[in-house]
Amino acid sequence: MDWKQEKIVTFRTALIDWYEKNKRVLPWRENTEPYRIWVSEIMLQQTKVDTVMPYFERFMTWFPTMQDFTEAPEERILKAWEGLGYYSRVRNLQAAMKTVVEEMDGVVPDNLTDILELKGVGPYTAGAVLSIAYERPEPAVDGNVMRVISRVLEIDDDIMKQKTRKKFEAALYELIDPEKPGEFNQGLMEIGALVCTPKKPMCLVCPLQEFCEAHKAGEEELYPVKIKKTKVKKMYLSSAIVQTGADQFIIEQRPDTGLLANLWQFPTVEQSDNQEALKLAFLQKYGMELQIKPEPITHVKHIFSHLVWEVDVFAAQAITTQPVDLKLKTVTKEEMGHLAFPVPYQKMWQAFQKGEIQ
Ligand code: ADE
Ligand code: SF4
Repeated sequence: MDWKQEKIVTFRTALIDWYEKNKRVLPWRENTEPYRIWVSEIMLQQTKVDTVMPYFERFMTWFPTMQDFTEAPEERILKAWEGLGYYSRVRNLQAAMKTVVEEMDGVVPDNLTDILELKGVGPYTAGAVLSIAYERPEPAVDGNVMRVISRVLEIDDDIMKQKTRKKFEAALYELIDPEKPGEFNQGLMEIGALVCTPKKPMCLVCPLQEFCEAHKAGEEELYPVKIKKTKVKKMYLSSAIVQTGADQFIIEQRPDTGLLANLWQFPTVEQSDNQEALKLAFLQKYGMELQIKPEPITHVKHIFSHLVWEVDVFAAQAITTQPVDLKLKTVTKEEMGHLAFPVPYQKMWQAFQKGEIQ
């Protein structure tokens, strides 16, 4: 970056003035308590603002203080996160907050070295918490910020590469306002969300327009540069909503490591090309003999970051069960409501219930 100090100061002022006038009223902006900022920034990492809002409010009702959150059982914290995805985020958050409560007198670190030691806290979270909660001049580089800055400075490095983030951070250490780093960072995020959108950015109303090289060249949409990864893996599955009685359903807890660890699901096997093979697959995996309705009640597709599930969903009755050593459990609808299910399984349940009513 080769900007003169004067230009840097004008940039800061333009950004922060715009932010103060245009910022959205969001629940985590009510105050800058580190606990709240940290929770919100973890939620916001792979999830949109509109989705996060109700989750954040409920989280603060369930766990008003960091102490409350660290004392909550896993079942409860997973339920708080149900539907948000990337469930290791909430597990890591609890582990990290336990460290803060037990080893740091309950005070979230106010410096980069200490905060980066905490589980699940990477450079983005560290920068966001330090700047917003403690007014430390640390950059917080997320996807929105990279889009805005790549356009302003015409940075054409591949944003999927790890070391590209360093380049953005280096530029931002120069640009960031040392007086109002929290507003500066949130201003960039806000412009990324509201003005400098991926397609058809609203340059005419953008406070950064006079500083923006991509805009001057009319090449806004060429940035950021993102090299597509190879195709994601597909998995073809069959799930069964298994009843043993009018209000008795068999569910399974997923393994305690890996994708969607410890969340609950309906019994699931790999897809088969006929009903007999499907029955056999359930028998072998779960020791359950099922009577399966021939037509799937629905098909659910779910895209994870690195994987796609294509799931046929069947209604079934258990004839006999000799449960093999899996985490199977028979529950009522009411009991199911207290357990955390991944989104694709929630969709299955909704389809099943719709079918029941008709
Ligand atoms: N995205 C990430 N952090 C955010 C914040 N603090 N406000 C709005 N959107 C965000
Ligand atoms: Fe984005 Fe356009 Fe603003 Fe540049 S001028 S930062 S491209 S909205």
